[in-house]
Amino acid sequence: MRLWLIPLLLIKLISATPTPIVLWHGMGDTCCMSFSLGSFKIFLEKNIPGVYVLSLQIGNNTVEDFENGYFMNPNLQVEYVCEKLAADPKLSNGFNVMGFSQGCQFIRAVVQRCGHKLPQIKNMVSLGGQHQGIYGIPHCGALRHETCDDVRKLLNYAAYNSWVQNSLVQATYWHDPLDERTYEANSVFLADINNVRTVNKTYIQNLNNLERFVLVMFDNDSIVQPKETEWFGFYAPGQAEKLVSLRESKIYLQDRLGLKKMDKAGKLIFLSTPGDHLRFTEEWMIKNIIKPYLSS
Ligand SMILES: *[C@@H]1O[C@H](CO)[C@@H](O)[C@H](O)[C@H]1NC(C)=O
Ligand SMILES: *[C@@H]1O[C@H](CO)[C@@H](O)[C@H](O)[C@H]1NC(C)=O
Ligand SMILES: *[C@@H]1O[C@H](CO)[C@@H](O)[C@H](O)[C@H]1NC(C)=O
Repeated sequence: MRLWLIPLLLIKLISATPTPIVLWHGMGDTCCMSFSLGSFKIFLEKNIPGVYVLSLQIGNNTVEDFENGYFMNPNLQVEYVCEKLAADPKLSNGFNVMGFSQGCQFIRAVVQRCGHKLPQIKNMVSLGGQHQGIYGIPHCGALRHETCDDVRKLLNYAAYNSWVQNSLVQATYWHDPLDERTYEANSVFLADINNVRTVNKTYIQNLNNLERFVLVMFDNDSIVQPKETEWFGFYAPGQAEKLVSLRESKIYLQDRLGLKKMDKAGKLIFLSTPGDHLRFTEEWMIKNIIKPYLSS
């Protein structure tokens, strides 16, 4: 073989390696259990031969990973993951990211806050993320409406207390549409990454560096309220029934996060699938996510 061919062959080999995928699990879950993300990782590896999949463990072991999903402030979790990703040599040629439920807004925060310090993040897939927060409790839609409202009011009373904000993960993306001002002033995580208080240009730049931002909504989601938050929709301010879609919302119209620009450039992909929170079939995942966004 001619010597000059060797570098060419190496380049060919490297470029044939699929883009690695980083997963961030949801609340009440961990990185690697065989009945959840552990088997999803194997499923990805089977469908994308040779792919490196990193399922993030937040903490030193499974128990910590589980607990941190409730009690470790997301701002610290994001910092922790930024360092982990920067230190992983297998990601050095760029990678895709995929979030599950609350893992979606956390991995988006990684993209926005440290994307410029990491290798290129190509596509981001969000499965049932709460990008405009939540205002409801699991299965509330199935309960009587007034009961739900009372619980919501109670949670709302406590959620913005600074102790709760700093100690309970879910409070950091609690979003009360009846009191937008308190949310704006006190939300230590979501209001920041959504550029609600000020516009951080680094966030806009880093998010725009994605090739595609794929947002999946579960049509019959009984866990996340409102389910439209999975597409950046939310309740119109001042009430909790009427919904405002991303394209009608302030974050878009004022382009506070660059989402309008991304939308015009065809970078935002809105997908939905029937079924409850995080319920999808393997066929659906292969056809709609793996083949178009994770295979090359
Ligand atoms: C890992 O363990 C150390 C030592 O016990 C602890 O201080 C740290 O908080 C743990 N990391 C996480 C992310 O929980
Ligand atoms: C904007 O975000 C970057 C990245 O997280 C951070 O370093 C910077 O301090 C932020 N700027 C402001 C004005 O908050
Ligand atoms: C699921 O959601 C779709 C769209 O919102 C709706 O048409 C369908 O009736 C729902 N299915 C169930 C079983 O609730």
